[in-house]
Amino acid sequence: MLHLVLTPKNISVDTNGGCVENIANIMSNKLSILTGDCNVLLDTLDENSVDCCVTSPPYFGLREYDHDFQIGTEATVTEFVNNLCDIMDGVRRVLKPDGTLWLNIGDGYCNTNGYQRSKKGWDRTAREGAQANDRDLKDLLNEGYKVKDVLGVPWKFAFEMQRRGWYLRQDIVWSKPNPMPENVFDRCTKSHEFIFLFSKSHKYYFDLAAIKTQSSDGSLANPRSVWTVPVSRFSGAHFATYPPELIEPCILAGCPEGGTVLDPFAGSGTTAGVAIANNRRAVLIEANANYVDLINRRVDEIAGLKANPLFTFE
Ligand SMILES: C[S@@+](CC[C@H](N)C(=O)[O-])C[C@H]1O[C@@H](n2cnc3c(N)ncnc32)[C@H](O)[C@@H]1O
Repeated sequence: MLHLVLTPKNISVDTNGGCVENIANIMSNKLSILTGDCNVLLDTLDENSVDCCVTSPPYFGLREYDHDFQIGTEATVTEFVNNLCDIMDGVRRVLKPDGTLWLNIGDGYCNTNGYQRSKKGWDRTAREGAQANDRDLKDLLNEGYKVKDVLGVPWKFAFEMQRRGWYLRQDIVWSKPNPMPENVFDRCTKSHEFIFLFSKSHKYYFDLAAIKTQSSDGSLANPRSVWTVPVSRFSGAHFATYPPELIEPCILAGCPEGGTVLDPFAGSGTTAGVAIANNRRAVLIEANANYVDLINRRVDEIAGLKANPLFTFE
């Protein structure tokens, strides 16, 4: 399998050492990996060329991915939402008119990790064990949040996307039977995230038959909007990978066989593994060029392990 790696300057080399001069070639490969800022690299893809986009951007304020164009380190939720929607404007340009976007997004809290209360308000602390948090709490307080508030990032994002012209078609709840334990005493443990389904147009490609579920009497039923999928802990990287089972229905319903799935926040390349396992092509964009080997390994692993289907609705 030919895995292409393109640099931000569009000088492209494949991992077998050859050179590829024509960026249009990427659409004819099973897997293309572009390394750099997706905000810039999306512009290099042809308009109306991608069937479906399946992706999970970094959480707001959670992690560092060691590159300059990192999404998620903005001072405020408003800035984060605007930056993410700017990138999604680029996705909309490359999606075919009947294309869909499936975006996994989680929420957070206006929390005081890394801060202690003083007479003047909240001060940074070097308290041992405190989560590294470069975000200035004051920025969130100025934005109108109170300490302990849910940030509401997913819905702020969804409504801004709607405002920019996307059709917001569904909020799918990813229910996690094995969530991260939380040391909290005045609320429930968080055990879900969202997958938002957006379309570019009023009518769009959606293969419902491909994701119908079997009822107890043997008849076929429409899938429901709460998907229960365990979090899989992927040991090969430090970032949050989503489980292949979670995104398989998105790819089966959103992209025809032989079509192209895009992931502008590729991480370990789960999207490409599931796409290729299901006879689709994949175009990945990842800011951190060090992940390319990891992506190639994970893609081969998922595509090689293919037991059809990966996902079963309850
Ligand atoms: C949550 S991870 C994606 C995980 C992925 N779904 C998987 O299963 O492995 C988000 C990824 O987005 C990348 N990223 C952040 N900002 C980016 C940008 N501006 N352009 C391209 N990639 C970016 C990060 O380096 C990180 O690998």
